[in-house]
Amino acid sequence: MNIDSTLRPHLDALDDRYCEVLALTPHAEAIIRSPGPAHEAGDRFLRAGFVRIPGVVSPAALEALAGELWPILSPLAFAVRVPHTTGPAGTLLGGGRLRRVDTGSLERDGQGDALASVLRAVGLVEFGRLLADRLAPILRHVIGPAVYERMFFNLYDEGDYISPHDDAHMGDRIDVTFPVTLDGVGGLRVLSGGYLETHYDGEGAMSVLGPRVWHEVPPLLRVSPERPPRRLTITMRYV
Ligand SMILES: [Fe+2]
Repeated sequence: MNIDSTLRPHLDALDDRYCEVLALTPHAEAIIRSPGPAHEAGDRFLRAGFVRIPGVVSPAALEALAGELWPILSPLAFAVRVPHTTGPAGTLLGGGRLRRVDTGSLERDGQGDALASVLRAVGLVEFGRLLADRLAPILRHVIGPAVYERMFFNLYDEGDYISPHDDAHMGDRIDVTFPVTLDGVGGLRVLSGGYLETHYDGEGAMSVLGPRVWHEVPPLLRVSPERPPRRLTITMRYV
């Protein structure tokens, strides 16, 4: 594989960053030993289709991993562009703009296989499998027997967003996501009790989003005049 030399330091750092995230936190280890909080999270997930569990991985480790992954994933990402159109009753229909790195969104035997081999070469396929193994003792109380399928990544640049949608076309998938915003404030809004409630990124939180739940990604806003914000979601898909 031909590698841009500017990527070398980021690639060399990845194994350590993977290990730091895979170590989980003492809080996560405590949940694994006595899964009361995992049962409670499972109850909330059953009721609302969404649950956020803070403190599962080290926030610093997750930010460090996102910082190394961004320059590696950015050139691999393809644009996801869904322009808004107006509906029959003068309504504005949903849309959004982001970038994605996902073998599942590409055709097999072509770009999908090429991307898969790059992700394998940089250790992300193994990292996804190992993280799924580490989290299995918690997740089985939340999502039951759903099976880990793959890891994929969404990249949001300044102003990127996705308007409310329910991913109904994705069927019964469950997404387990570690969202990270660098140099900004990012999050996910999930419909609950009639309102889109904000769930901020950070705190080493793992969010679990079930099928057909209305959610949106608010626009990524700049907080620093010098540094543009970046938001990376590391998602494990379960089916
Ligand atoms: Fe979505």
